[in-house]
Amino acid sequence: MKKIEAIIREEKFNAVKKALEEKSYYGMTVSEVSGRGKQKGIPLQWRAGEYRVDLLPKLKIELVVLDEDVDTALSAIIRNARTGETGDGKIFVLPVESVVRVRTGDLDENAI
Ligand SMILES: Nc1ncnc2c1ncn2[C@@H]1O[C@H](COP(=O)(O)OP(=O)(O)OP(=O)(O)O)[C@@H](O)[C@H]1O
Ligand SMILES: [Mg+2]
Repeated sequence: MKKIEAIIREEKFNAVKKALEEKSYYGMTVSEVSGRGKQKGIPLQWRAGEYRVDLLPKLKIELVVLDEDVDTALSAIIRNARTGETGDGKIFVLPVESVVRVRTGDLDENAI
């Protein structure tokens, strides 16, 4: 099992969620986050000179899937989150040791 952590533009969330649903990935956790990538935020002009908005708002989607589903889920996210401009986001894939469904005690593959 793997956890996909995708940090994307807020306005792309609905399209990404719909695409994941179409592929039958329903469970997810979504958080509002702020972050920066290699441009270190965005520069802005102001009367006093230039300053930088350091951290930009993004959405983080976390979903845990079977190893064999990682590629499908990743491509659904990428296809729907990309504009081609800087700041489109980043995706991390992490190993997951175990999953438990609290209600039933189901484990791992049966609990995702
Ligand atoms: N190395 C990193 N570690 C953790 N989070 C990151 C990292 N790089 C980017 N992020 C997160 O991803 C968000 C989007 O990053 P962004 O798309 O700007 O990445 P980038 O590497 O600068 O690519 P691009 O050049 O396309 O902008 C950031 O706001 C931050 O939340
Ligand atoms: Mg960037």
